[in-house]
Amino acid sequence: MNAAIRAVVRKAIYHGLEVIGIQRGYHGLIYGEYEKMHLGSVADIIHRGGTVLRTARAPEFLEPESRNQSLQVIRETGIDGLIVIGGDGSFRGAVELEKLGVAVVGVPGTIDNDIACTDYTIGFDTAVNNVTDAINKVRDTATSHERVYVIEVMGRTSGYIALKAGLAGGAESILLPEIPFDLQEVIERMRRGVKRGKLHSIILVAEGAASALEIAEEIKACTNMDVRVTILGHLQRGGTPTAFDRILASRLGAAAVDLLRSGQHGCMVGLVGGEIKATAFTKALATEKTFPKELYELATILAI
Ligand code: F6P
Repeated sequence: MNAAIRAVVRKAIYHGLEVIGIQRGYHGLIYGEYEKMHLGSVADIIHRGGTVLRTARAPEFLEPESRNQSLQVIRETGIDGLIVIGGDGSFRGAVELEKLGVAVVGVPGTIDNDIACTDYTIGFDTAVNNVTDAINKVRDTATSHERVYVIEVMGRTSGYIALKAGLAGGAESILLPEIPFDLQEVIERMRRGVKRGKLHSIILVAEGAASALEIAEEIKACTNMDVRVTILGHLQRGGTPTAFDRILASRLGAAAVDLLRSGQHGCMVGLVGGEIKATAFTKALATEKTFPKELYELATILAI
């Protein structure tokens, strides 16, 4: 997200615009927490995880009173256009602000990659790389001890992180909310693997599909295998962002400024087939993202 903030600030200043950074997302917009941004405000942040503007969940933004309060802040600061970096909830808030006459452009940022009309959201690639790295490390112990590891990853109701990291990390089975699974089949796969000499099994579970602890208990109950659980949690979200994420964030942030400058708003910018494209919030929020089932099938074949 820092790379996106940097891109917005620098691109806007390049075009002679003034930039105000709202702290803690909608929370800061309600309570008037903001700062004027200069070229130097975003120096030395492109390689840092997280966001220098901080972030917060702001459930009160669901209330019309809070949104009206934010309108006061927008007026008193003289904000002509707002760029919102976030996921589904942030874009729903943006739609409400548009209804109040605020010009908003969205930049999709979430590790879950669950926003339609963009192939990738900012942070997803970094999370996939973090998980892949974790699988590599767990694999060392799994092989040495000839164990089964059930690794749980984030993604809320989306299985993208599990799918991509499972493919990249060579997981034996990947359990996703998008694809129904039968645990007995997973166990059979493990048994076949052991028979042909596999030293370990790694089962990657998306948090939206099942609980790793419960899956591990069921495997223990049905087999005599040595099973361990690793829940990666917030380790997935932090750390140095990948080059892919930094480039994506730089392109999307700059594109959001260009949209506002050209008078377009009420939409998000996304990367579609390598090109930057704008899509109305309402369309993006109503569209179901097509899940790449072919990658799941490939991962299953390759982990035979
Ligand atoms: O939406 C991003 C995400 O990291 C999800 O993958 C995860 O379920 C959730 O946020 C965790 O939220 P929190 O940091 O509030 O515990």
